[in-house]
Amino acid sequence: MTGGALTGTLPATVRWEDGRLYLLDQTLLPAQTRIEEQQDLQQLHDSIRRLAVRGAPAIGVAAAWGLCLAVRDKQALPREALLAALREAGAYLISARPTAVNLAWAVGRMLELAGALPATLDAAGIYSALCAEARAIQDEDVALCAAMGEHGAPLIGDNTGVLTHCNAGAMATAGIGTATAPMYVAHGRGVKFRVYTDETRPLLQGARITAWELQQAGIPTTLITDNMAAHLMSQGLIDLVITGTDRVAANGDVANKIGTLGVAILARHFGIPFYVACPSSTIDLATATGAEIRIEERGAEEVTTFGGVRVAPPDIETRNPAFDVTPAELVSGLITERGIVRQPYTDNLARLFA
Ligand code: MRU
Repeated sequence: MTGGALTGTLPATVRWEDGRLYLLDQTLLPAQTRIEEQQDLQQLHDSIRRLAVRGAPAIGVAAAWGLCLAVRDKQALPREALLAALREAGAYLISARPTAVNLAWAVGRMLELAGALPATLDAAGIYSALCAEARAIQDEDVALCAAMGEHGAPLIGDNTGVLTHCNAGAMATAGIGTATAPMYVAHGRGVKFRVYTDETRPLLQGARITAWELQQAGIPTTLITDNMAAHLMSQGLIDLVITGTDRVAANGDVANKIGTLGVAILARHFGIPFYVACPSSTIDLATATGAEIRIEERGAEEVTTFGGVRVAPPDIETRNPAFDVTPAELVSGLITERGIVRQPYTDNLARLFA
């Protein structure tokens, strides 16, 4: 289970038990909660690629355990060969998805740890040190989510209408989510508010996952299709937007699920605050601006089909960028584990997270 009392009984996104890695297959939600053991690195790579595990922090946690999986059965190798296998495994996992920085961040942290271990440590010792680090990354993610919840919850008052996009919830993390963390905490304190959840075409993370998890927590939730947000804003139903992010650049530009930029522009038009929740593992000070963030382009079938049924003519050209970049000037604040960061982002992010 994940998230504890605030989220209700949600299954864990990622679980390592007795040297085995298990993932919840999120492609099947909400109809089925199927847990799948990851037998090897290829299977994990495929699970990340096809979004069985998804959401920036959850991908990072899964990759950290993936490196344990990579060397689990190689403990007879000499130290140098084991470290080389680890580096190769890290590069392979990072190649699964390019936009969420948490993936490269978690792999980098694990490799850095392995490289700094005493030269006298044998392969079995390296394996157990890696498992301890992956456990720390997972536990820290739980704590980061809780802290974002504390800092963001005061934004939500009684009768607030909160719009969110995609799933930056418990299912995207090891804890209570990023964008949803303030919602879970406010709800736990008895605040009465409603969440409007964009369905999030093409893969419907909002409809399939966010609506499902908030409903289980007993948070009043209204599901809308993406093209309804402007109308609801014009009707005065939305007071606040909170989304997650896959990478925050040093200047405060944020990459998030495709459609987020449109929501941010709408929010500015209607004078609605637009907040982005992000743990420090998603802040990438090495990337100067959003223009440098690589946007994942996915297959055409996600656009030409709906619920597995073809809805477009044969041979139609498509585009399927999975993320977009919202410029920092549209972001009212970044809800981090250290508090809400506001403009000027370049200075304030560097001061808090360099
Ligand atoms: O393609 P996905 O489902 O992995 O996209 C997820 C998002 O865009 C989330 O908003 C983001 O990862 C933040 S998760 C806390």
